[in-house]
Amino acid sequence: MNVELAGCNVVVTGGGSGIGEALCRHVAQHRPAAVAVVDVNAQGARQTAARIGPIAHPFTADLSSEDGMTGVIDDITAELGPIDVWCGNAGIFTFGGFDVPTEAWEQSWNVNVMAHVWAARHLVPQMVERGGGTFVITASAAGLLAQIGSAPYSITKHAAVAFAEWLSITHGDEGIGVTVVCPQAVATAMTAGVPGGGVAGVDGMLSADEVAAAAVDGLLAGTFLVLPHPEVATYARRRAEDPQRWLAGMRRLQQRFVGGVGETTDPGAP
Ligand SMILES: NC(=O)c1ccc[n+]([C@@H]2O[C@H](COP(=O)([O-])OP(=O)(O)OC[C@H]3O[C@@H](n4cnc5c(N)ncnc54)[C@H](O)[C@@H]3O)[C@@H](O)[C@H]2O)c1
Repeated sequence: MNVELAGCNVVVTGGGSGIGEALCRHVAQHRPAAVAVVDVNAQGARQTAARIGPIAHPFTADLSSEDGMTGVIDDITAELGPIDVWCGNAGIFTFGGFDVPTEAWEQSWNVNVMAHVWAARHLVPQMVERGGGTFVITASAAGLLAQIGSAPYSITKHAAVAFAEWLSITHGDEGIGVTVVCPQAVATAMTAGVPGGGVAGVDGMLSADEVAAAAVDGLLAGTFLVLPHPEVATYARRRAEDPQRWLAGMRRLQQRFVGGVGETTDPGAP
């Protein structure tokens, strides 16, 4: 199902920085009625909106709680009208394993997973009533493979991909389109200071613009899975076909990159 952005109200969360900022600019090229730039960082949201011009509107919201989510959905709807396309892109990275404090696990869970659930809970009924709508979820290759160095990121990004699949299966026939974007390393604030993107950079770093362009192409074409690093498809296939071999390769990668921060990757052919 092709998606038309012209005349639509599009929301981008995490729009104040990185991939979200680039998504706002790329979406704006397709003649939407409005782009709502949502971020917990008010200044970032304002700067992105200013860069785009009058069709862009900044909104400040902390999407780690359902109240924050419903508040901003209500504000956007009151100011711009019904939401047609929701790009849930805000995300956080936490380095560590089971040692990560419970509060930090909860924050990852809320921002990387529950924000998508809350957005869908409030928007799907409205969208279905109006004949349809679209969700773009920025997950990660970590959601298909694993994140060396971060249990919270691996788990929450897998959950984000699983929710995107569930949403498409359950509401696709009611006109709800879903696109899930799963890049490896991207040069943004999240990977700043990690030379070459760390472990996720083994296949090269992409720019936020390259990822946003791939995401918007996928959105327009109605593609479910967008892999800006195409190698990820091969890695996911290998993981499914021979998990034991894949895990052995990932342990070797872990040895090489212990302490590395970034997104996920695969060892290639072990
Ligand atoms: N950079 C990478 O290598 C990479 C790779 C794959 C996926 N991703 C995913 O891409 C998305 C965007 O990340 P990015 O790389 O552009 O990083 P970024 O840090 O530049 O941008 C993330 C944005 O989300 C906002 N945000 C964080 N918590 C929020 C909250 N509670 N409420 C509202 N906004 C919040 C931040 O203020 C920031 O502007 C994330 O979901 C990330 O997990 C990033």
